[in-house]
Amino acid sequence: MNRKLSVAVVGLGIGQKHLEAYATLPDRFTVAAVCDLDAIKAEAVATAHPGAKPLADFGQLLRTGGLDVIDICTPPDTHRALVEAALAAGFHVICEKPLTGSLADCDALQSAAAKAQGTLSPIFQYRFGNGLQKLKLLQTTGICGTPYLSTIETSWRRDADYYDVAWRGKWATELGGCCLTQAIHAHDILSYVNGPVKNLAARLATRVNPVEVEDCAAVSIEMANGSLATLAVTLGAAEELSRIRFMFQNLTVESRSMHPYRVGDDPWHVKGKSPAIDAAIAATLAGFEPADESFAGQFARIHDSITGGAPLPVTIADARASLELITAIYHSAESGTTVTLPLRADHPKYGSWIPAARRWGRDEQHNG
Ligand SMILES: NC(=O)c1ccc[n+]([C@@H]2O[C@H](COP(=O)([O-])OP(=O)(O)OC[C@H]3O[C@@H](n4cnc5c(N)ncnc54)[C@H](O)[C@@H]3O)[C@@H](O)[C@H]2O)c1
Repeated sequence: MNRKLSVAVVGLGIGQKHLEAYATLPDRFTVAAVCDLDAIKAEAVATAHPGAKPLADFGQLLRTGGLDVIDICTPPDTHRALVEAALAAGFHVICEKPLTGSLADCDALQSAAAKAQGTLSPIFQYRFGNGLQKLKLLQTTGICGTPYLSTIETSWRRDADYYDVAWRGKWATELGGCCLTQAIHAHDILSYVNGPVKNLAARLATRVNPVEVEDCAAVSIEMANGSLATLAVTLGAAEELSRIRFMFQNLTVESRSMHPYRVGDDPWHVKGKSPAIDAAIAATLAGFEPADESFAGQFARIHDSITGGAPLPVTIADARASLELITAIYHSAESGTTVTLPLRADHPKYGSWIPAARRWGRDEQHNG
């Protein structure tokens, strides 16, 4: 098990879910501090987590002794500066999605992490559902065969109250809409399973709420491995669900929980193309060992990496791949072209994917 890590959670919205996950891993983590600009919130959260010191100032947090890990759960536009400061101060850093607001910022963090004593772990907790992990196990055996088609649906619901929080719905602070904030998890799963994207064509629209950023998306993708994929996203669903299907030469795998926010978790349904393939699938999955899921699943693996030298469960390169997909989606929707990846420093959207017109769909809808 190795040593226990002392962690501080910064930003106490989703940060409170991180705290619940650390509480399920008492042999691995102690929460020593909570930090939020809202001092009253920090005090209230600390009361519910005995031993956690409440702080309202991030600089003061970095000067607090005895910490190993700084876990950043603040709004997207703050991530780069806070991560850089925490790495420079010598800590291991965990950071919520999206890691940064551009590929340039992501590459800057990659350079900062390469020079730092600590590690940087971007959050993609959906990866650690046991249903998805079963597919990852099957992939290691070669039983899946040639990948054909993936369909990824993110049908969620966000109403006016969600956008009452000042940073949401705006390019300057949320940095994007449903592709960046909500569907980023399901889209990361596509790359986690099928590798890099080769090219894509995207259509975006803002139809659900009166916000700057997109809230509906349809994306058509060719993967570098030759398979095809579709991404479908809305924040206007009456009934929320997330649904993922991977069609391979020898089998089809489908998420069956339908839970919008736990799509990687069991049950996943695997169907082979013959009784012999079904038997081989069953034999492989008989050896599957369920592990912690969601945030606890990622944190337990980060602990193993920091204390035992295992590879980090999610890398900066993984976060970059998701931000490259985002950049390509925004560039395609803005230019009306198919965009070919990879995107490097000479790409026009490398420094920022924010579109010149700064809105989607609504103009066409109202003017056309
Ligand atoms: N992984 C997931 O499933 C998931 C779910 C929700 C949100 N998120 C991500 O988490 C981040 C936060 O989202 P949220 O919904 O919790 O936002 P939120 O507005 O509910 O909470 C953010 C908190 O951060 C605090 N804060 C802002 N700047 C700060 C600073 N410099 N120092 C200390 N505290 C600061 C705010 O006061 C606020 O309490 C976003 O990047 C979001 O995309 C991830």
